[in-house]
Amino acid sequence: MSKVKLTIDSQTVEVEEDSSLLEAAKEIGIDIPVLCYHPDLSLHGACRVCVVEDEESGRLLASCATPVTEGMKINTRSMKARKARRKNVELLLANHPNDCLGCDRNGHCELQDLTYELGIRSEDVARFAGEKSEYELDTTGPALKRDPNKCILCGRCVRICEEVQGVSALQFTQRGFDSIVTTAFDLPQAEINCVNCGQCATVCPVGAITELSEIDKVWAALEDDEKHVLVQTAPSVQAT
Ligand code: FES
Repeated sequence: MSKVKLTIDSQTVEVEEDSSLLEAAKEIGIDIPVLCYHPDLSLHGACRVCVVEDEESGRLLASCATPVTEGMKINTRSMKARKARRKNVELLLANHPNDCLGCDRNGHCELQDLTYELGIRSEDVARFAGEKSEYELDTTGPALKRDPNKCILCGRCVRICEEVQGVSALQFTQRGFDSIVTTAFDLPQAEINCVNCGQCATVCPVGAITELSEIDKVWAALEDDEKHVLVQTAPSVQAT
């Protein structure tokens, strides 16, 4: 396979012609943040968190989904690229529960890490405040918990279930604001062809799919009025 030479952040790099900008940057130790990209899965190119700037055209390119071409000059840290990356994360946060401290993924969440890394504060996200998704938590399965309110539509779970496990228990459905990853016919986790391998939870970058804990099972078994009493008496937990 022939090689392609390009410049990234003023460093010259030579990579195979079928490489992406993300892979070329990695080759010279430049880390570009990603959310929907996963090295073991097909490309999705949806989150636009990996945008970089083409210095000649000024265009923003999704680095995970853009192949390298000879002579390209790419800036991964230009003001334009950083602003776009930041805005894309802010938009994700605007429709995401603000309960990091009570989330199973607290401290292991890629969205949370990016939020800190980009220095995003609550007031930055407030400018995009609007309608929020409201879905039921699904704790019916024997091993996995799905919280679609936390889904960022990266599609990693859909792809790993289909491409690696060959099960296809999860799919995208609906359009626009109503887009969501769910099960066939929106059936509860307990009634689908899921084999409970847990691969989806492993690649989920946020707390949308996690392992079902003993506490979750106890909670699921409570009557609604018992849950209500517990929620009313629990100390409130808010992300800072
Ligand atoms: Fe490139 Fe999501 S990581 S578009």
